[in-house]
Amino acid sequence: MSIWRVKPVSAFEADMKKSQLKRVLGKWSLTAIGVGAIIGGGIFVLTGTGAYYHAGPALAISFIIAGIACVFAALCYSEFASILPVEGSAYAYAYGTIGEIFAWIIGWGLILEYAMGSMTVAVSWSGYFNKLLKLFGLELPTWLTTDPASYTGEGFSMNLPAFLIVLFVISILIKGTSSAAKANNLIVILKVSAILFVIIAGAFFINTDNWDPFIPAATQIVEKETTHNAYGVAGIISGAAAIFFAYVGFDAVSTQAGEAINPKKDLPFAIIASLLICTILYILVSLVLTGMMNYQDFDPLGKYPEAIKAPVAYAFDIAGQGWAGFIITIAATVGLISVLMVMIMGQSRIFLGMSKDGLIPSVFSKINPISGTPQTNLMILGGFIAVVAAFTPISKLADMTSFGTLFAFTMVCIAVWILRVKQPNLTRTFKVPALPVIAVLGILINTYLMFNLSKEAQILSLGWLAIGVVVYFLYGKRNSKLEKHE
Ligand code: ALA
Repeated sequence: MSIWRVKPVSAFEADMKKSQLKRVLGKWSLTAIGVGAIIGGGIFVLTGTGAYYHAGPALAISFIIAGIACVFAALCYSEFASILPVEGSAYAYAYGTIGEIFAWIIGWGLILEYAMGSMTVAVSWSGYFNKLLKLFGLELPTWLTTDPASYTGEGFSMNLPAFLIVLFVISILIKGTSSAAKANNLIVILKVSAILFVIIAGAFFINTDNWDPFIPAATQIVEKETTHNAYGVAGIISGAAAIFFAYVGFDAVSTQAGEAINPKKDLPFAIIASLLICTILYILVSLVLTGMMNYQDFDPLGKYPEAIKAPVAYAFDIAGQGWAGFIITIAATVGLISVLMVMIMGQSRIFLGMSKDGLIPSVFSKINPISGTPQTNLMILGGFIAVVAAFTPISKLADMTSFGTLFAFTMVCIAVWILRVKQPNLTRTFKVPALPVIAVLGILINTYLMFNLSKEAQILSLGWLAIGVVVYFLYGKRNSKLEKHE
């Protein structure tokens, strides 16, 4: 049946030769893109929830588990990127292996990761920006920082900072990938320095008694009116799902294949390097945090009710080092700009790939000859992201971003295996070691984490994918270039 048609690797290669994108990204810029996308609000915010509601001091193990889930996926992404260095990422990999309908569903799921991720990041940027203003004694009125659904006052309201930051990022992206990469490099240096600062400065305030017991006895805990397993082994695993958002982003490197100078070698390097760098930093941050503050002190009904909202900054406050919160707020405010930049860039490149294949309208694959960027694509996408971020309570759905990501990871693990079996003789500059084992573990652990996310996120995400199937039959299938070819 035509919905199962597969795009031949030779057709991808022909597309690559025709690509008008500029090849400007070297190995380290690509690695910085990965780090730029990974380190964001997640590590500064989710660590408190992970420690108090899930793992206790063993939060570091949750970070290791989520990191391992990502490493399996990263290896599989790397093999693909070494065969098919095209901008569509997981969508394109599935199109070259499993078939069109699956590719479409993955592309549709990636909207959750990239576009929806961008919206939630824009809203959390607005939160940090407001905090920063307050540190300087300034404040925006609530009606300018709140979406209409969450606004309790009378009259008009919008999240203006979220709206403006998206437009700002789009203006950088439109100028060209090279200047965007330079801006990203600078932000990454700042972010990594801030994380290193947290680790080194925080280490002086560790009280090792807080790590005892390192894995508290398993129990049940109530979070947002639902009871779930906490602590013990089950808590460590549910903790890995809860903090997974902090890892979202490294796969964005693979969407830059069309702009990499030497994609077949540098993409695998950058994907794996960026993930390893962030995994090590995250493990250290979680050890320092749970050493500085007892995990039970993150109880929102306890003596520090605000701590869970900004755990890292709070831990320094309690240690009498309030100035550290200042540094963290600046780092997060600036740092989130690069998360936003890479996520929007990633989404635009996935749309570019889908549009080249005819599955979405051709306006998404027009490249501006001067800047070498998909300008119209970026403008439509940016306008949409800015409006949703400013006028809807989108950030309440942040877990859906993790769902979309875990779904794509699982599919990439399946697809890489299929391609190995179907076309073992393709040139692969990077090969996943012990492939069946890594792929199976990747599939199991990523699916498991997916179903450990909140029930609400699971239902909404599955609903989103179901809508995608309908859109496929109404538009994608009929306009597919392969359909026309047939
Ligand atoms: N990993 C990114 C963050 O934590 C999305 O903000």
